[in-house]
Amino acid sequence: MGDTKRELKEKDKQRNKDLKKVKRFNAKVYRRFARKQHRRVPESRYKTTMKNPENVLEIDGLHTYFYTDIGTVRAVDGVTIQIPRGKTVGVVGESGCGKSVTSLSILRLLQEPQGQIAEGELRFNIGDGEAIDLAKVPPKRMNSIRGNDITMIFQEPMTTLNPVLTIGKQLDEVVRYHNVDKLTSRMIKDRSIEMLETVGIANASGIYSMYPHELSGGMRQRVVIALALLCNPKLIIADEPTTALDVTIQAQILELLKALKDKVSASIMFITHDLGVVAETADFVVVMYAGRIVEQGTVYDIFHAPSHPYTIGLMKSRPSDAIGEESLYSIPGNVPSPIELPDYCYFRNRCDMSVKACRGKYPSMLPLSDTHEVACYRYIKIGSEANG
Ligand SMILES: Nc1ncnc2c1ncn2[C@@H]1O[C@H](COP(=O)(O)OP(=O)(O)OP(=O)(O)O)[C@@H](O)[C@H]1O
Ligand SMILES: [Mg+2]
Repeated sequence: MGDTKRELKEKDKQRNKDLKKVKRFNAKVYRRFARKQHRRVPESRYKTTMKNPENVLEIDGLHTYFYTDIGTVRAVDGVTIQIPRGKTVGVVGESGCGKSVTSLSILRLLQEPQGQIAEGELRFNIGDGEAIDLAKVPPKRMNSIRGNDITMIFQEPMTTLNPVLTIGKQLDEVVRYHNVDKLTSRMIKDRSIEMLETVGIANASGIYSMYPHELSGGMRQRVVIALALLCNPKLIIADEPTTALDVTIQAQILELLKALKDKVSASIMFITHDLGVVAETADFVVVMYAGRIVEQGTVYDIFHAPSHPYTIGLMKSRPSDAIGEESLYSIPGNVPSPIELPDYCYFRNRCDMSVKACRGKYPSMLPLSDTHEVACYRYIKIGSEANG
C-alpha cells in the first residue's frame, strides 16, 4: 500500500525542515570561512617548516568539504601525501574519489563558498627548510604561487588556451610575466619558440603564429605543457592530461612528460584513473578510494605487491590483464555516498577478502615496509612487526 495523502504531506514537511536546517548550517559555515578570508593574516601564521626538506610539497591530513544543500560532501577526508623533489607521484582511484579536489585544494581553486579546506596543512617548500602553508596563505600570495611555483595541466587543453590569441602571444605573455632576465621582445619570442621545440613540436616557428583551433588535440596539450614549463615551476599538477587524447597521442605525451622530467627539475603530481599510465610515469603511487588514501608506495610496491583489496581489484580490472579471459573484471558494488560515509572501512561492502576485524572502525595506515603502507585490517600483524 502506498502512503496516504497525510503521510506524504508529513514527509514533505519533514524534508523541508531538514533542508532549512542544512541551509542554516551552511550559512553559518560560509560566514565563518568568509570572516577568515577577509582577516589580515601575518606571515607568521602561515609560515612553517617542512618535515622533510627533500619534499616539495607535504599534504598533511587534508580535509576538503563541500557544504551543499543536500548535506556536507566529504570529498577529501584526511589525505596525507608527500611529493619529493624531482619525482613524479601518481594519484589513482576511480571517478569521484577526490583526486581533482585534492589538486584544486593545493591550488586553492575550489568552488567557493561551498568548497572549503576544513582541516589540514599543505606545506610548500620555499627553500632553506622553510615552508608556507597553502591552506592558510592569503589570496594575493596564493596568486603569485599559482603562476610561479605551481602550475596545472588540465585534461582538456582548450580550457587553458585562449581561443582568440595565437599560440605565440600566449607563450610570450608568460615569458614576459616572468621576465627576470630583462629579455627584449625578440628574445622573448625566441624563448617561446625554443620551449615549443622542447615539448617536441616540429615547425615551432610556424605553430607560433597559429591559433589553438588550428592544432590537433595532442599538439594543443604540448603547447599547454610548454606554457606550464615556461614558469619554471617547482611543482606541476597534471590532472588526467592524456584522457582526452587518442591512445597513440597519449603515449607520445607520456613519453614527453617522462623525458621532460629529466630536463626540468620540477616534481609532478600525476592524476589519472589509468594504472597503466601510472606505471609508465610515476616513481610513487597513491591509491585513493572515497576521499581517503587506501594504499601508497613506490611503483614497484604497488605493481609487484598490491595489498589493499581495492588496489588488487584495480589491477585485475586492467584491460591488459583480461586478455584471454571471458570478460573484464569489475569490482562489485558502488562507492559509498560522500555525504553518508560509514564509520567502518569504506570498501568493506565491496570487499571479497574481508576478515572479522573489518567490523571495527575505519582502519588506520599500516606500514608494510619503509616505503609501502596500506589501510587494511588484513595486514595488522605485518604492520605491527614493521613498527616494532
Ligand atoms: N563543486 C562541487 N560541489 C559539490 N560536490 C563536489 C564538487 N566538486 C566535486 N564534488 C564531489 O567531490 C567528490 C570528489 O570529486 P573529484 O572531482 O575530486 O573526483 P575525481 O577523483 O577527480 O574523479 P574523476 O576521475 O571523475 O575526475 C565527488 O563526490 C564529487 O561529487
Ligand atoms: Mg577529476
